[in-house]
Parts: sequence; structure tokens; C-alpha cells
Amino acid sequence: MAKTSKPILRVNFAGVEFLTPFLPASGTFGYGFEPGGFKLLECFGGLTTKGISYKPRVGNPPPRVRETPCGLINSIGLENPGLEVFERDILPRLMELGKAIIVNLAGHDKEEFELMIDRLNRYGQIVAYEVNISCPNVSQGGVEFFREDRTLRDLLKSVKRTSQKINIVKIPPNVFGFERLLDLLMEEGFTYLTVANTYPALFVDIERLDFYFARRSGGLSGPAIYPITLNLAYQIKKRYPEVEMIASGGICSAEIAIQYFLVGASLVEIGSANFTDPAIVCKIKAGVENYLERKGFCSLDEIRGKLLLI
Ligand SMILES: Cc1cc2nc3c(=O)[nH]c(=O)nc-3n(C[C@H](O)[C@H](O)[C@H](O)COP(=O)(O)O)c2cc1C
Repeated sequence: MAKTSKPILRVNFAGVEFLTPFLPASGTFGYGFEPGGFKLLECFGGLTTKGISYKPRVGNPPPRVRETPCGLINSIGLENPGLEVFERDILPRLMELGKAIIVNLAGHDKEEFELMIDRLNRYGQIVAYEVNISCPNVSQGGVEFFREDRTLRDLLKSVKRTSQKINIVKIPPNVFGFERLLDLLMEEGFTYLTVANTYPALFVDIERLDFYFARRSGGLSGPAIYPITLNLAYQIKKRYPEVEMIASGGICSAEIAIQYFLVGASLVEIGSANFTDPAIVCKIKAGVENYLERKGFCSLDEIRGKLLLI
């Protein structure tokens, strides 16, 4: 009898069931309900929001984005309308979409994180917070939390104390010696990670003989970063098996997504690739299903983390 059912992509992450393992990466898919978003929504297992801060942020001066031959450099600086507008105008529309919501939080300091978490805890459809301590494009918050272990520990403790959701930490890819950061996160009980944010990168305007971005460097994303982030994801899963991982870094094809699953990613976030092809998530989903069928697997779980056993 011909096999008719598609391979199962459903995944359990931190006790929550996601119908597909694909999420939009924060800041690259609007809020999910913009025109054109609807028909793609069925391919996403959940929705990760743009970074939200307690007060509105105007972001960095333009220009903010620059294409390079190997990827995109951005210097957005976490522009967003702030929690009040998010709660009033954006969240209700997001909730109508009926998807699990992961709110990406970008506080200046631990007090801002606490205030946001305290307000957002009441919404059942928000399943998790993605705590962004990895934005390279701001002078307060983001990677600045790494300057001192104490500051980071204080932040993590207050997130844990306030949050009634799953707490995911989005890490930077390039902290010197990732083991120090990971040891700290494990000690504080943070085992749900998004690996990773963009890489600090520079673009020089040779006509103006000046830096392209007002803040000089920005963050590199896209195809160039995937083998490096993939290696980081693998190293982290190998060394810290207790980590449940969302992978983010250059995912623009089924083949790349599958590579991340093979090194143990539970979910993958699709980022810059949304800009070149907003329908990419459905193509990646179909590609992963085809691969599993071709290889004779019934579910994604059968291949997840296989390379960790070698
Ligand atoms: C234009 C742009 C805006 C972004 N905004 C955020 C953000 O608000 N919060 C965050 O945690 N990451 C942000 N990121 C990082 C992405 O979520 C993602 O982690 C990164 O781009 C790597 O994935 P990619 O190579 O698939 O784009 C942004 C990336 C881009 C390109």
C-alpha cells in the first residue's frame, strides 16, 4: 500500500508542543500579521516577535542595513514602539493568529526586563520569553550584559524570579570562550537557548571614506554565518547535553535546517532569508519533509541529534 502520511515534524520544546519546528527569527518577519504573512503562518510552529523594550526605542540613525556579497549587516538598534503599544495594538492581533508566541525581550537593564515580564505573564498564549542578551547594536542592554558576570547573574536571577513562562536566552555567537558563558547559564538554571545572534561586522564606505553605519560596526547575518553558528550549536550540544536549543544563523534552505537538527536543534529560526523570499519557510518545510521521506524516516525526532552520538 502506498504511504500517504507525511513525516511528523511536530516537536516538544520545553514541554510545549510546536506543530512545526520553524519560527521566524526576531526582527526579520515583522510581527507575523503583516500582509502576506497569513498564508505562511501554517508553516511556522510559533511566532517570535521583534525585540520589545519597556520604553519605545528609536533605534540607530540610518542607514541601518547593508547587503554584502555573503550576507546582511544590520544596525537597527532595537527600534520598537515599547511595551505599552505592543500590549495595546500588537499583541491582540498576534493572539488572533492562534500560534504559540515567543516574546523577544530587549531590556536596558534588569528592572526593564522585570517590568515587561510582570506585565506579559498574564497572557496565556505567550509561551516563552526570548531574553536577548546578545544584540551587538546598542550601547545599553544587549551584549553589554557580558561586561560583568555579576550583572548577567543579577539579570538572570530576576528573570527567573519574575517569569511564569519558559525562559529562553538568546546568546551572542562570539563571546570569548563560550564555556564561561554557558557554565554561568547552566549554574543559573537556564538550559533553553537560542544559538545565536548576529556577528559583529564592519562595512566601510570607500566613497565617503567613512564608516557605513553611525555606530561603526553592525551585526552580520545570512548564509555566511551558518557554518560558524552550526559549529557553535554542535559544540554547545556536545558539551551541555541538557541544553534544549533553538538554532538561528543563516538558515535559508532545508539542507541547512537539517544540518542544525542533526546536531541537536529542537527548533530553528529563519531570519534574513525572509527578506529575500518571504515564502521560504514553506519551501524549507517541504524540503525537510521530502528529505525525511527519501531517507525513510517517519519523523524529525528520528534524526534529531544523530551526530551527537558519533
Ligand atoms: C534586520 C534584523 C533585525 C533583527 N532584530 C533582532 C531583534 O530585535 N532581536 C533579536 O534577538 N535578534 C534580532 N536579529 C537577529 C536575528 O533574529 C537572527 O538571530 C540573526 O539574524 C541570525 O539569523 P539569520 O542569519 O537567519 O538572519 C535581527 C536580525 C536582522 C537581520
